[in-house]
Amino acid sequence: MTATADAGPGVYDPFDEAFQADPYPAYRALRDDDPVHRHDDPPFWALSRFEDVWCAVRDNSAFSSEQGLTFHPDEIGTLDLAPTIVMLDPPRHTRLRGLIAKGFTPHRVKSMEPDIRAFVHARLDEAGARAAAGEDVDLHREFSSPIPTFVLAELFGLPDGDRGLFDPWVRALTAIQDGGFDLGVLDAKDAVAEMFGYFSELIRERRAHPGEDMISVLTQAELDGERLTDWDILGFCFVLVAGGNDTTGNLISHGVMLLDSDHRQRELLAADKDLIPGALLEFLRLEGSVQGLARTTLQPVRIHGIEIPEGQKVMMLYGSANRDEREFGPDADALDVARRIPRHLGFSSGVHFCIGSHLARLQARIAFEELLARYPDVGVDLSRAERLRSAFTRGWVHLPATGLDAS
Ligand code: HEM
Repeated sequence: MTATADAGPGVYDPFDEAFQADPYPAYRALRDDDPVHRHDDPPFWALSRFEDVWCAVRDNSAFSSEQGLTFHPDEIGTLDLAPTIVMLDPPRHTRLRGLIAKGFTPHRVKSMEPDIRAFVHARLDEAGARAAAGEDVDLHREFSSPIPTFVLAELFGLPDGDRGLFDPWVRALTAIQDGGFDLGVLDAKDAVAEMFGYFSELIRERRAHPGEDMISVLTQAELDGERLTDWDILGFCFVLVAGGNDTTGNLISHGVMLLDSDHRQRELLAADKDLIPGALLEFLRLEGSVQGLARTTLQPVRIHGIEIPEGQKVMMLYGSANRDEREFGPDADALDVARRIPRHLGFSSGVHFCIGSHLARLQARIAFEELLARYPDVGVDLSRAERLRSAFTRGWVHLPATGLDAS
């Protein structure tokens, strides 16, 4: 079953703008009628039910990450990068993950809370003042998205004066990752080259004068008795920027959008901030920043009576799995900020489970605590919003805010 150029509503076609705007009817059709879907051009398979995706991502003996995470044949070659942690299988993956985990200890993550809160405060002061003066505020560009960029700069220990350089690099990397194959990749490649030059210098400096930051930790770390090379460390920086930035910003933006779609739920959350940590998982379940990533079969795999041969790309449709009624019940499409969610796939599962999930949740928790305390009627103007076009992630380019002028 192959999707065509004008496949129409409810048909799975990851390249189609209408599908990207509202993929959920197509996901439902896949789950119900075609749970082991075969796509012809480009050739790949897609799993859409929760249990199938859950089991597949937890089975590295059959599903490998080493051929990349998209259905593009050579995505990493396009960037001239060595494979990063997210594109490795055990045992090398296990050893690298152990190293990077040193930068994400609960203590280190928790210690960032006061700085993140101060940053969020400052952004809200500015947004509120602009809204009160009758100016437009872009919730995504001016609030949600700067938070993770600030956090990454903190994590890397960038000098304050250099942070202005960092923003455009992060945007370029994000553009490449989110379909940059057709989005000005050359400009983005220049920005990446510039960023790598800057980081190479930083790594040299941290080797000589290590501090407490993540780059210093990595310069001191050893793998199989050897220090990590500059190239290894650059790969880590790349994966953190590409994986930890827009994902987190979009979680915050989608959360505001979802709360604006059901004001009773927004009132519940504004009245009880203890609900916020659970609500974040609910936002991610309904509107996941990562909608799907691929694995490659290492052996023939049989699911629901259909055999996927060895060497095939298989999309793990996290965005569909997270709305599966078989897992979340008949109201799986509804927002319930108090929902119990024993397991979900917003951060994947298994060996590649998101290593930054605590940090992402910390940022989003602070964002919602502060936002709802100050602007309990915060919302978004979808009529003027612009969605990001991507076959793999779900997010925003622009998302105008409402309700910021009523403090
Ligand atoms: C809401 C925000 C986030 C979402 C939705 C998210 C989602 C994900 C997902 C789905 C994966 C698994 C990829 C796969 O299937 O192969 C992943 C892995 C990863 N994420 Fe996140 N992520 C978020 C935030 C972050 C942050 C803040 C960081 C770090 C600053 C981060 C760093 C990583 C890394 C390093 C991996 C690779 C782990 C490995 O391969 O072992 N992520 N993330």
